[in-house]
Amino acid sequence: MTRLITVDDLAEVAAAVGLDALLDELIAALGQALATHDPAQLVTHDRTGFEYRSPTLGLVEWMPALDLGRRVSIKTVGYHPANPTVSGTPSVLATTSLYDTADGRLAVICEATILTALRTGAASALATDVLAAPDAAVLGVVGCGAQAVTQIHAISRVRPIRRVLAHDADPAVAGTLAARLAPVLPDVVVEVVDEPGLGRLLAEADVLCTCTTVAPGAGPVVPEGEHRPWLHVNAVGADFAGKRELPAGLLRQASLVCPDVPAQCLAEGEAQQLTADDLGPDLASLVRNRAEWEGHRARLTVFDSTGWALEDLVAAELVAGHCERLGLGTVVELQPMATDPHDPYHRLLSPAGQANRPTTQPTLTSGALL
Ligand SMILES: NC(=O)c1ccc[n+]([C@@H]2O[C@H](COP(=O)([O-])OP(=O)(O)OC[C@H]3O[C@@H](n4cnc5c(N)ncnc54)[C@H](O)[C@@H]3O)[C@@H](O)[C@H]2O)c1
Repeated sequence: MTRLITVDDLAEVAAAVGLDALLDELIAALGQALATHDPAQLVTHDRTGFEYRSPTLGLVEWMPALDLGRRVSIKTVGYHPANPTVSGTPSVLATTSLYDTADGRLAVICEATILTALRTGAASALATDVLAAPDAAVLGVVGCGAQAVTQIHAISRVRPIRRVLAHDADPAVAGTLAARLAPVLPDVVVEVVDEPGLGRLLAEADVLCTCTTVAPGAGPVVPEGEHRPWLHVNAVGADFAGKRELPAGLLRQASLVCPDVPAQCLAEGEAQQLTADDLGPDLASLVRNRAEWEGHRARLTVFDSTGWALEDLVAAELVAGHCERLGLGTVVELQPMATDPHDPYHRLLSPAGQANRPTTQPTLTSGALL
């Protein structure tokens, strides 16, 4: 049997757990997964997929992870930056499937659009927690869409953010950011910065997040300029060949540029502008050996975030566990379970509802998804 977890189920999880607590749990679970990451036990493959420019610039790609002896997670994600203006739908749309490696059955299929935003925020929070000044209070944000909300929320869980300086190429999106944040961060002041050159935003920020849908070849979105010596940057938007948000000069000044997945960052992230020799520790090493890297808090640092299947596995398991505990989601016979295993026609020819449907519920607690 398969548990379907929809956006409504996710909303019920958020209501039951609390959004702050859910994000805290995700930051903690991801931190634990990164700190203990053993690539022989938790195997991830390069993401791959289809990129196209017709009918619009976009891609659909898949991000697989194997937790050896337990499960396979595959996130399928679409990126279509014109969606918000063309159809009013998110730029990033995703689902995650969890498979039981005992028999290959699909145990969970889960909405992952919101989960992607949450886990991307959690990854930035972990990098920020190691590398940003402990009293960082001003957060600059360039690109005020979906990722901006969870970036700001997650970073506020690890630093005392009081003020957000926000810029978006579309002033209407920047203009609604305060209202979108108010339910989770009522005391944070959001100031829209529209000045060309973004000098004040760059000069005043303790932490900067870039999360734009800038087109490949059109970046950077942040100029070179005066900034706090301790500025920490989470560069989230560049995850496509030719796409970049930061100027090469800023990257070269940084005392550390930390990729989440080094090869992927060199191909799609800010690290396209660098070589492998320029890169600092990856996210897992940064979190595992945090005491070693905290010494960079007084200097310019960059987290190059392109997204990792491990993050999607952790997020989906967290939510699936809550759904199982709370009895949420819809358990369906998506694949034939009550059948003669050698007869593909047995279930097709059984009158609807008369097959011996198994009563077993999918569960995550045993370690083997049933
Ligand atoms: N690193 C990761 O793991 C990860 C995860 C999810 C999304 N992303 C990337 O993050 C980016 C943002 O995603 P989103 O869901 O917030 O999209 P979104 O469409 O909700 O918001 C993007 C915003 O960027 C703005 N923008 C575009 N070009 C700009 C520019 N030059 N200067 C300022 N603002 C600009 C747009 O007007 C829009 O409001 C995407 O590129 C997406 O691929 C990365």
